Amino acid sequence: MNSSTEIHLNLRRHNENVDERIYGGFLEHLGRAVYEGAYQPSHPTADENGFRRDVIEALRPIGFSIMRYPGGNFVSAYDWKDGIGPKESRPRRLDFAWRSIETNQFGTDEFMAWCREIGTEPMLAVNLGTGQPRGAAELLEYCNLPRGTSWADLRAQDEPYGVKLWCLGNEMDGPWQAGQRPAKDYASSALQASRLMKGLDPTIETIVCGSSGRGMPDYMDWDLQVLDTCFSSVDYISAHRYTQKGKMSTWDYLAEGLEIDRIIQDYRSLIGYVRAKYKSDKQIHLSFDEWNVWYREMSGDGDWKEAPHLLEEVYNWEDALIAAQYLSSFVRNSDVVKVACLAQAVNVIAPVLTREEGVLTQSIAHPLSLFRGYGVGTSLQAVTLQDSSPGRGFASVPHVDVCAVAASGQVNVFLTHRSDHGSTKTVIDLRPCTISGAKGICVAEAADTANTWETPNAISQRELAVQVLDSHKVELTLPPLAFAVVQLAI
Ligand code: AHR
Repeated sequence: MNSSTEIHLNLRRHNENVDERIYGGFLEHLGRAVYEGAYQPSHPTADENGFRRDVIEALRPIGFSIMRYPGGNFVSAYDWKDGIGPKESRPRRLDFAWRSIETNQFGTDEFMAWCREIGTEPMLAVNLGTGQPRGAAELLEYCNLPRGTSWADLRAQDEPYGVKLWCLGNEMDGPWQAGQRPAKDYASSALQASRLMKGLDPTIETIVCGSSGRGMPDYMDWDLQVLDTCFSSVDYISAHRYTQKGKMSTWDYLAEGLEIDRIIQDYRSLIGYVRAKYKSDKQIHLSFDEWNVWYREMSGDGDWKEAPHLLEEVYNWEDALIAAQYLSSFVRNSDVVKVACLAQAVNVIAPVLTREEGVLTQSIAHPLSLFRGYGVGTSLQAVTLQDSSPGRGFASVPHVDVCAVAASGQVNVFLTHRSDHGSTKTVIDLRPCTISGAKGICVAEAADTANTWETPNAISQRELAVQVLDSHKVELTLPPLAFAVVQLAI
């Protein structure tokens, strides 16, 4: 069945600028993310730091703007002091979170060096599970303060790292988390940590842990308590989500964008409420610092091994259409979402997988790199006239998910076609703005197509024909299950 969509964009109807930090990634000490992923001194491509160059080369085109580290659940029982100084004297530890052995051969300094190689900004999480605010402040001193005091003097380089974004713990509402505690206890420790850290370096921004997911029984109660307590000191509250397909049809699965919009709307309301309560103009934003598809490789039991194979999800094309909808929702809601991190970057629920022979770039890398390349500018509000059908409990799921940005002389429109039942004729109308040229890029595959070690380029980008109808309108045809970027010169 073929359908049609009309998209109206007016450059005067816009949201805020897209914050480039929504294109972030995440590297956790988990499975083979660090060891055999980022770091493997024995690998033929390893550089003098022990970093796998093939991984660096595979990550660069994805263009992660920021990189969260070192966890995740890992951070809640991690002592960052184990991972500094001469490698030969670093302790081997039991990792509580993933029942693995942590050798500590990769720590804070190695992470900073790795970020430089990738071309990304570091974002650190502190341990507020088994750790105390004081340890968090010491890590801040180690990273950001000039030489002259004990922790700063131990840093591997003279120049401070200048880490701007700091997560105050991780998923502290989760029973699986080391040091989980009631909201009011966590909030008081997060507030102390944030104040101490900002006292040492007022230029940093802090993120308090929101609920670890919408399915948590105290979703929004937790968030309200922690934001209420920490409002005066923190800059962001976090949200996490992992999309699960379960037994859903592709259509129901691809209704995910509505769920993501709903979560962001929940936080918009919460933040508005707390600001109103304090009669404050202070801006608090959302850090969506863990998001992805994750439902196949769920075991987190590393069997007390080094670098066990954990969470090595293989992504197909429908998963990539979910990733596209996360990013689209972050762009649409640019007033609320200022930071976001794909979980994760390498091997663990990641766009890049490694084995001894090389690397494999997965389907989800396509929307990531296309958004990173074209999704910077002012977020435009789209009005769409289009077919919709019921799906996953929503009365009306539009067939095409739309977001758009305007940058100098250019409007880029991102389209995710949810329907697998035929193509959709799409008209984009920019009135009163004049269009001087148009082109498009498209990826469209069957839902279960995946890049594999045998067929690493099964999924590829191709040109999309975009016809200029008149000086304000273009037309294109979206194939089933497509992700497209339409670039309009104005
Ligand atoms: O990303 C994998 C895990 O998912 C993280 O460690 C944790 O924060 C979340 O539960």
